[in-house]
Amino acid sequence: MVTLQVERVSKLYGSFVALKEIELELGRGVYGLLGPNGAGKTTLMRILTDLLIPSRGRVLCNGRDIHAMGADYRDLLGYLPQDFGVYPNFTAEGFLCYIARLKGLDRETARRKTAELLDLVRLSDRRKRRLGGFSGGERQRVGIAQALLNDPQILILDEPTAGLDPQERIRFRGVLNQLGRDRLVLLSTHILSDVESAADQVILLRRGEIIGRDSPDALLRQLEGKVWSVPVTPQEQAELAVRCPCSNVSRLNGVTYMRLLSDAPPTVRARSVTANLEDLYLWYFGQTTP
Ligand SMILES: Nc1ncnc2c1ncn2[C@@H]1O[C@H](COP(=O)(O)OP(=O)(O)OP(=O)(O)O)[C@@H](O)[C@H]1O
Ligand SMILES: [Mg+2]
Repeated sequence: MVTLQVERVSKLYGSFVALKEIELELGRGVYGLLGPNGAGKTTLMRILTDLLIPSRGRVLCNGRDIHAMGADYRDLLGYLPQDFGVYPNFTAEGFLCYIARLKGLDRETARRKTAELLDLVRLSDRRKRRLGGFSGGERQRVGIAQALLNDPQILILDEPTAGLDPQERIRFRGVLNQLGRDRLVLLSTHILSDVESAADQVILLRRGEIIGRDSPDALLRQLEGKVWSVPVTPQEQAELAVRCPCSNVSRLNGVTYMRLLSDAPPTVRARSVTANLEDLYLWYFGQTTP
């Protein structure tokens, strides 16, 4: 079983600090990396793939510096970049076979893995079609498949569910759960329900710093007694919007309800409700949800 250890990693772009002294230990399981746009998720993931060299600090895999490991490390690694580009003239099958060969698989294994993974991402029926004509979600699924070709022990997926329809996203969560049983999976996402159901651990990144890390349940427990559903008149709505962070506004039978974060009940009619990850996101990252 592999472990990754991030030791005081910082990344600077000029004088801009994109990552600040990140300390992290990752083992088996699914880790969800959450943070607003520009928080440093992609930067951290690129450093973990050894595509980007940290300005300070280092990353160890089972105690060895990943940069010094070179090809040995890449053999353990599968990576889906955020901006996964494809060769439009390749067919899905041709592309996966090509990448498999680049990863050092022999012809027979490349064919077998390609067929297996096309099936996993449900593109077997489109295997002979050119990637240039694929939809965004189909392309993304080819990206997921190519990351798995070498049966990697470490899987790093930068927004893997971006562009997937709800049905495919739900299917992908099942795949993630399976993959996380015997390997290290790190994924970033802005879709909070992905994390809620698929991640064993959530890592919260804000402005280049880790500000929280725990299981989704443990993180949500911190919000017990702090989330309220409040029926409001238009005037109360305007007043409360200024006073408390609001994670949702809904209407039911002609009544408007605000979902508010507050240590004490915001009004006498407030009802305590169970926190969800959207509340948590608001709690950690302020009022803007992506
Ligand atoms: N090559 C670069 N040169 C200068 N600044 C960069 C470079 N790459 C990233 N940055 C900056 O570093 C910060 C972190 O970027 P990063 O791509 O890691 O964010 P992210 O968390 O992945 O965001 P998103 O959710 O939008 O994908 C951003 O402010 C970005 O503008
Ligand atoms: Mg990113």
